[in-house]
Amino acid sequence: MTQSAPASPPPAPARPVDLRGRSLLSLDDLSDAEVDHLLATARALQEPISSGPLRGVSVALVFLNPSLRTRVAAEVAMADLGGHAAVLSPGNDAWKWEFRRGAVMDGDAVEHVRDAIGTLSTMVRGLGLRCFAGMRSWKEDAAEPVLRAVAEAARCPVYNLESAQDHPLQSLADLLALRDALGADLRGKPLALTWAPHPKPLPMAVPHAVLRMASRAGMAVRVCCPEGFEPDGAFLGSVRRAAEERGGSVSVHHDQAEGLSGAAAVYAKSWGAPSFYGRWEEERTPRAAAAGWTVTRERMAAAAPRARFLHCLPVRRNVVAADDVVEGPGSLVLNQARNRLLVQKAVFLETLRP
Ligand code: CP
Repeated sequence: MTQSAPASPPPAPARPVDLRGRSLLSLDDLSDAEVDHLLATARALQEPISSGPLRGVSVALVFLNPSLRTRVAAEVAMADLGGHAAVLSPGNDAWKWEFRRGAVMDGDAVEHVRDAIGTLSTMVRGLGLRCFAGMRSWKEDAAEPVLRAVAEAARCPVYNLESAQDHPLQSLADLLALRDALGADLRGKPLALTWAPHPKPLPMAVPHAVLRMASRAGMAVRVCCPEGFEPDGAFLGSVRRAAEERGGSVSVHHDQAEGLSGAAAVYAKSWGAPSFYGRWEEERTPRAAAAGWTVTRERMAAAAPRARFLHCLPVRRNVVAADDVVEGPGSLVLNQARNRLLVQKAVFLETLRP
């Protein structure tokens, strides 16, 4: 009598995704199943809902920096779900905030972040925050001091609406646009994230968010940038590990045409050279020398036929990318922007629903 092989234990039933009460500070806060669930919810929310699932629910949206897409997406998302969003800009239409613990507040700042967020936490069920990088110290920006101070003081979910080095809601919108354009399984598909010229050094929030998202999707990610503009080595190591675990890869190319060669998607974004961080006067020379990195139609010809073009917007036309690329047949920029509303609705609904 042959002995049958021991039966393997039945797979554990997939746990239903429950995001109620959760913050979203980074894509790293979400499992792959939770990302898939949010994107499926976002797709379903293209249809208007009349039931007002968040009726009676309010959020505060704190903008320490300007915004178009993020602000409107969050306000409209709450309205569409039957809730309310209170928008404030400390230092402009609300008291200016102090963030340092132990500060002697005899300067411009009128209210400590702990008191402001403590107060808002008594009035709203969720808090969105936009807080760009200070651009003085890499170590300080990498520690996300403003986002952390708000998250520590809050007694409700906190949503990162773009911080010093991350922009998770943009990542989710970009992932939805890429899946719609290239298929649900992005593993192994080549995505080129290319540095592009800009009049001033910009933070790493979007480049980091793109790298987190594309590596989590298992894409073959090529980072294209002039020498000296490479992303931080420790960060690159972490996203490379995430990509390789999923069958993808991360490579760095100093020749833009080589990096774009055969790419299914080209994501353009400028950033300040991490190797010159805080020494921006010195960075001006290599930045000026890379003026030829504008993404033009000729440069896009190196990518795969029908390659998609992405940018988070706002984009400086004919500096970062040419008009006919931004408005070209492969451009996904307005799909990405539209998706900001869908994923914002999904995140509010899933984290704030009763
Ligand atoms: N992409 C993005 O976050 O746009 P805003 O800066 O206009 O919000």
